[in-house]
Amino acid sequence: MRGALVLLAPLVGAAVLTSRSDLDDCPGYSTSNIQQFGQRLTADLSLAGDACNTYGSDLPDLKLLVEEQSEHRLHVLIYDANEEVYQVPESVILRPECEKEPKESHLRFDYEENPFSFRVLRGDEVLFDTSGTNLVFQSQYLYLRTWLPNHPNLYGLGEHSDSLRLPTTNYTRTMWNRDAYGIPSGTNLYGTHPIYIDHRKNGTHGVFFLNSNGMDIKIDKTEDGRQYLDYNTVGGVLDFYFLAGPRPKDVSVQYSEVVGLPAMQSYWAFGYHNCRYGYQDVFEVAEVVYNYSRAGIPLETMWTDIDYMDRRRVFTLDEERFPLDKMQELVSHLHRHDQHYIVMVDPAVSHSGKRGSDRGVFLYRDHEQNELYQGAVWPGATVYPDWFNPDTQFYWNEEFKRFFSKENGVDIDGLWIDMNEASNFCPYPCQNPAEYAIENILPPPPPPIRSPPRRLPGFPASFQPGHSPSPSIPTKRDNLVQKMGNIKKRTSEKAKKIGLADRNLINPAYQIANLAGSLSNKTIDTEIIHAGDGYAEYDTHNIYGTMMGSASRKAMLQRRPHARPLVITRSTFAGAGAQVGHWLGDNVSQWDKHRVSIAQMLAFASIFQVPMVGTDVCGFAGNTTEELCARWAMLGGFYPFFRNHNEFGSVAQEFYRWPVVAQAARKIIDIRYRLLDYLYTSFHRQTVTGTPFLQPLFYVYPEDEKTFGNELQFFFGDALLISPVVGEGEDFVQAYFPDDVFYDWFTGAVVPGGSVTLRNVGLTDIPIHIRGGRIIPLRVTSATTTTELRKRGFELLIAPGADGRAAGELYLDDGESIEARAAEIRFEFAQGRLKVLGKFGYHPTVAVEAVTLLGQGRGRRHVTRVHIELTGPTEVKL
Ligand code: NOJ
Repeated sequence: MRGALVLLAPLVGAAVLTSRSDLDDCPGYSTSNIQQFGQRLTADLSLAGDACNTYGSDLPDLKLLVEEQSEHRLHVLIYDANEEVYQVPESVILRPECEKEPKESHLRFDYEENPFSFRVLRGDEVLFDTSGTNLVFQSQYLYLRTWLPNHPNLYGLGEHSDSLRLPTTNYTRTMWNRDAYGIPSGTNLYGTHPIYIDHRKNGTHGVFFLNSNGMDIKIDKTEDGRQYLDYNTVGGVLDFYFLAGPRPKDVSVQYSEVVGLPAMQSYWAFGYHNCRYGYQDVFEVAEVVYNYSRAGIPLETMWTDIDYMDRRRVFTLDEERFPLDKMQELVSHLHRHDQHYIVMVDPAVSHSGKRGSDRGVFLYRDHEQNELYQGAVWPGATVYPDWFNPDTQFYWNEEFKRFFSKENGVDIDGLWIDMNEASNFCPYPCQNPAEYAIENILPPPPPPIRSPPRRLPGFPASFQPGHSPSPSIPTKRDNLVQKMGNIKKRTSEKAKKIGLADRNLINPAYQIANLAGSLSNKTIDTEIIHAGDGYAEYDTHNIYGTMMGSASRKAMLQRRPHARPLVITRSTFAGAGAQVGHWLGDNVSQWDKHRVSIAQMLAFASIFQVPMVGTDVCGFAGNTTEELCARWAMLGGFYPFFRNHNEFGSVAQEFYRWPVVAQAARKIIDIRYRLLDYLYTSFHRQTVTGTPFLQPLFYVYPEDEKTFGNELQFFFGDALLISPVVGEGEDFVQAYFPDDVFYDWFTGAVVPGGSVTLRNVGLTDIPIHIRGGRIIPLRVTSATTTTELRKRGFELLIAPGADGRAAGELYLDDGESIEARAAEIRFEFAQGRLKVLGKFGYHPTVAVEAVTLLGQGRGRRHVTRVHIELTGPTEVKL
């Protein structure tokens, strides 16, 4: 191990146990049978005293595995000797391999033998330190504490709507995917991403905890002022990946090596999307498309929510309001005009989903008695696909093939998947979901009557006159004892990493701070056992949405095998970005949600490797205002995923509803589209290298302390600094410019460094600054669709740095194929000469038509008309 895994003398300054009092008696583990070979160290860990059995029984025998997997990644795994305890399946996260011949590691592991504790160091800097607290490994509770420096700069641990730099006192991050209407701060939201970035003056590192069980990560100080971070999880194993950095963006790249690189998206996916919940019929949807066109606001993709379904049942059309022939007319119209169409699919299938029942692909409460598990969602009583059942993919593919058929169905271009935490409106214990739905899922207020006057069905739809109620599902409930029996049987037959027997899968003794209450409340019962290997929902709840995402991506691929599928999901787990994009769920039309969307987007795009991300522009719940919607349109122009979405019953907020919002939208879409190849190029780079294309300021200026807490400005690509107005009634931005050269996008003027108040920022404005040293490829003009846009010539915008030089990239391909021929072009500018270098595997039909050089005297910008074919290397004098 090249001396990197070093056995040290007892750790200096090992503190007394200062953890929670109910853990004080836990004896910890002692180390034996230590073996070190190559880059690996293994050891046995044995319970070092009487079991404390705080929240389950202490496991007497554990194993330790430490691997220097690469020069910058250290893997530390503490697991049960029998390997019965649940581990996140490889099918969800394929574990990274050790490099064959890694260079000497930047990270060092050392440990204390008795009781066992460990530290991870980079040089002399202690990055992770469990000394002085005993780790706890019980059947339903795991505990580990690391000490941190005072005032740490920590980021990540999503999904949340808190500050980008996490609070460090009395702060709990609970991970339990939840239908989180209103995205309240300080609570668990839709996804689970247990990675944090710790940014220090001496460098940055990351810690990824690969565990999908419900958990509370607590960040606080002890009474004597020592800073710590505690892991408290109700299951799984202690599986850590330490990422050495040393720069923030290195950590992001290193994380992508563990969880996978994000999926590349089609060019059109970066266009502007419009959606709302509550369009009453296909005519209204068509009218919205028409209104956008009349208002001169480019609409790339129209979306339809559950409104299109017959009584909210997935894979059906409401024959009265969304008849197939009219839907096909709508889709053909969109396609003829180079526009796209997306609809929603929920996981919960109305029990009339007979095709799935016949195949047995839904979750069972009791397999032997053929009793399905039921919840209550939009259509009333529902069953849920079991993504662990090998037949479910086939069922899902078939549904997609039939319902989204190009010839006989609704030929969608992308997919929206929702409610996949999974959401269940019926609280635990849900005795009779059908009855619950009838009594509690009340109809929302009807929309204003239009012509033709049709009302949306209410909820549950089965109540509407003329519609027959959903057939009810047998509701006999299994009891826990029976369930325990099943688990026992399962674990004794095939126990490997599936989950311990004899656990209380409904009410574990340690209760995480799930805002929804008990683990099973408002979701699938955690005692449900999946098909196949027999995983318990208790362990796999947090990966349900991600598994739906990957099954849906496959189903979309099977319809259009060569095109990159756009799948936007609500629920995610670590690594989801390799398959899907994410919208940030049910935000509210309020200024604080507009503001926090920046931090949320940055966390997903820069840290969690889910770069196709955005929040509902203008806000989902509640009523937006003209001012908020205009400001949100301007900010949304810089979300990777740019979609306006609105809730049933809220005031209409399509961008054409107010003249000033329409003007803002036209302006920002014009800017975004001119920048679309820059966005596409930067996004593509992340999909092949993991280098985040959206970045908080501290990613770009990691030594500048003033950037560490900045969560309101961000880099869009590595050349554009965006500084949106975030307050109601404000027309200014308190911006910060690090010590570098920045040019104003609109005037070309150089701005001074430091804290600057940018004034007179009107409702149709957003401050954009270009970082010196970069070349940005633009389209010479914008267009009404991205297809048209691709026919526009290029302009290169050169923003010289302090040394007079600049460089930039342009990635080009056909915009949608998975295996695309591509051009990867690099531009370099110095001393009046522009070099065009790189690979030219794709030839665009257009050339570079203009070069604009910034920083040129009083005029500030100098435009040269040129004709540069992008088909091979060249050099021009400007
Ligand atoms: C919840 C989703 O978060 C929201 O976007 C959608 O409009 C509703 N479900 C209805 O499908």
